[in-house]
Amino acid sequence: MHAAQVLNWSEGPRYLSVDAPPAPTADELQLRVLAAGAHNVVRSRATGKHYSAKTLPHTLGMDCVARDEATGQLYYVSSLADSFGTFAEYINVSKKGRTLLVPLPEGADPVAVAGSVNPAFSSWMAITARTNDLPQDWTCLILGATSASGRLAVQAAKALGAKKVVGAARSEATLKTVEGLDDYIVFDAAEKDPQLLNAAGADVVLDYVYGDVAERFFTNFRNPGKPVQYVQIGVLSGKDGVALPSGILRSTDLTIRGAGGGSWGMGQLMKELPVLVPKLVGWPALPTTKVELKDSLIALSALMLLQPAAAIHANSVETRDSWSCDASRGIDISFTPAPEHRQLLVRFPTIALSVVPPAHGNPGGYSNVGCSAAVGFLDFANQRRFAIRQRHLARR
Ligand SMILES: NC(=O)c1ccc[n+]([C@@H]2O[C@H](COP(=O)([O-])OP(=O)(O)OC[C@H]3O[C@@H](n4cnc5c(N)ncnc54)[C@H](OP(=O)(O)O)[C@@H]3O)[C@@H](O)[C@H]2O)c1
Repeated sequence: MHAAQVLNWSEGPRYLSVDAPPAPTADELQLRVLAAGAHNVVRSRATGKHYSAKTLPHTLGMDCVARDEATGQLYYVSSLADSFGTFAEYINVSKKGRTLLVPLPEGADPVAVAGSVNPAFSSWMAITARTNDLPQDWTCLILGATSASGRLAVQAAKALGAKKVVGAARSEATLKTVEGLDDYIVFDAAEKDPQLLNAAGADVVLDYVYGDVAERFFTNFRNPGKPVQYVQIGVLSGKDGVALPSGILRSTDLTIRGAGGGSWGMGQLMKELPVLVPKLVGWPALPTTKVELKDSLIALSALMLLQPAAAIHANSVETRDSWSCDASRGIDISFTPAPEHRQLLVRFPTIALSVVPPAHGNPGGYSNVGCSAAVGFLDFANQRRFAIRQRHLARR
């Protein structure tokens, strides 16, 4: 069978022929993997930098939807165990171990479920593990409601008893596509009228954005005559620090918490997932991109290139040709010759460079600053089979 494995952390993942798992023991199930999620944690594990995956060979993936071909039963399977991986055609899972096995109803969409459980538990755990004593028919405000996690947070909040869910995000057009919202607030409007976020009347605020949006929320927070529980979950703004006026903490009943592995325990997650997963099957499906296993490394490599520098270096880089480009404007990577006519567009974030002159001030006249990025894919290792060329894109 085939699997996506890392044999050497510095080389990155490979699509390989590997031995099929042995016949399952009485305590095991052998499952045919139908879809596995390429979540951030999967990409992080593939670099060898995640605490949960340190042993080689490492099979990519930490969850999947898989079928027991003997009975036809579908399962959602998840584990962060070091030896566990789901980017494979077949896996053996222990019925008694710490691998989570949640039976799924026939008809569940494997791709939608595999893509959604990870973003969905961000809000599910925020509400179940990081809020308390919620009133009947509570109101939820979601900052960043157009993100994948934000869309699923609407469903999670309703499933957990919210009567009203208000979404806030940058784009009105996108907010209108978020299913289940009772109302929405566009960030621009909230900037002009700082009381708008307050006026949502939230008992719970789930924040996927942080940065200026959170700061505006804190700074303008007024006592609504009821407790308000704010839960920090994501940093889509990229700004990881905000001002929090002390008077707000003294003069209002605002509780501030965060939600993520560490603020809740793995045991709590394993208890909640069997409740969440069957519910999630009935929720509106997230837009997902499906990639065949044999192409998954190219897709993953592209995703990993968009991660911070540590992940870029973890990819193997194979080119002997020098090239230069304005990476912030995007580059095309095309694989040649046929039949590998696949093209990827990789857009790098702006690279900020700063030069700190030596304390002694010498040399003081000029500085040379170099910055280079190298791109390559292990499966295209004989160096000349791909080309990288600059592509000028309008900045968004
Ligand atoms: N703590 C946890 O357990 C946990 C779990 C999962 C994810 N997270 C975090 O939650 C956040 C969302 O993750 P995700 O995978 O769901 O995100 P995602 O789907 O990739 O979110 C993308 C959307 O975020 C919005 N966005 C991007 N930049 C923004 C900005 N500067 N200001 C406001 N909105 C912006 C954009 O929506 P518009 O174009 O419509 O504005 C974009 O479509 C991430 O920070 C992630 O790390 C945390």
